[in-house]
Amino acid sequence: MKPTLLVTTQPGFEGYLKEELKTLSIKKIIKYTMFRGLLKVLSESPYETIEAIKKEKDKFKFLMRAVPLEVECPSDLESIKENTIFLLKRKLLKNKLITGKSFVVRCNRRGKHKYTSEEVERFIGKEVLKSFDLKVDLKNYDFKINIEILQDTAYISIFDDNFNEFRHEENIKKSKYLKRYIERPLNRSERKMRELVERYPNIFDVDVVIDIGSAPGGWAKVLAENAKVVYAIDTGELKIKKDNIIHIKKRAEDVEDLPQCQLLTNDTNLYPEESALLTVKLSKFLEENGYIIHTIKSENKYNVKEDIDKVKKIFENANIKILKIMNLRANTKNEVTLMCQKRA
Ligand SMILES: C[S@@+](CC[C@H](N)C(=O)[O-])C[C@H]1O[C@@H](n2cnc3c(N)ncnc32)[C@H](O)[C@@H]1O
Repeated sequence: MKPTLLVTTQPGFEGYLKEELKTLSIKKIIKYTMFRGLLKVLSESPYETIEAIKKEKDKFKFLMRAVPLEVECPSDLESIKENTIFLLKRKLLKNKLITGKSFVVRCNRRGKHKYTSEEVERFIGKEVLKSFDLKVDLKNYDFKINIEILQDTAYISIFDDNFNEFRHEENIKKSKYLKRYIERPLNRSERKMRELVERYPNIFDVDVVIDIGSAPGGWAKVLAENAKVVYAIDTGELKIKKDNIIHIKKRAEDVEDLPQCQLLTNDTNLYPEESALLTVKLSKFLEENGYIIHTIKSENKYNVKEDIDKVKKIFENANIKILKIMNLRANTKNEVTLMCQKRA
């Protein structure tokens, strides 16, 4: 038996899903993965397994997505490329695909890697174009090359109308995490902010937020879902447009006029001391007892402790109290996220 299916559920419900999957009417082994909300099914064939899931869908209350897996390989880009080409050739030989058709590459990445999902998609897309007479169409494609990466292992499948992943729409709709399933995050920063909102929802339910170093807009996007207005300060372009996001296209130190806010956020990619001084400067627009979310970005993981001490001193002198020092799931090893409060 080999891995033939990835199955997702809400984090915390893995045990229930495992019980449900055990009742599937095929020979199989169900395994937990190191990722929350994600199980793996080992069986004889992905085609048979996904068909069984579709046929028996009514018995599932916890299953969200079931993704059939055709080929397993290491998760370095070269291996993914070789195995994608191999799989495409195999399918072309079986006449399942016809040259001239259009395709898209989609990658779901879990774990820490040197590349992003988008980089995998672009790289594999280019390599496929070099080897086959096909064209890319991001919307109206004939087939999708689906890549699931779980830390050191990648799973590749080719989906078309007859063989595809299964989404249990009813269960997804019921899930309070619905948004995650219909929209991909803009960037890693968005995931940091989503985790903060999940952990401390009250802090974000405010009238005005000032977000320093906003581009491309991952934080602003999440902040705008919770606050009435977000002032997004960055000389760079925002990739997100919303009525309640006001983009101030300047360096933060040059902004003179802003309304009072209840939350100040800073995710600039400046040196830790520089960035801390910017937070202090803009904290004049923050109401007393207002919260601050501030990222410390060190040059390497060995400097993090020292940088925290430097920032602590700068904040203490400005009556900013550090309440929490957090390692968020989407923080790199060189980063920590601070939650602070402006004191009288
Ligand atoms: C890592 S990005 C921020 C990502 C952003 N928080 C998001 O969620 O998409 C860092 C940003 O800080 C901005 N930045 C650096 N120095 C700045 C300054 N002095 N004033 C405003 N923005 C600054 C950069 O232009 C860059 O867009």
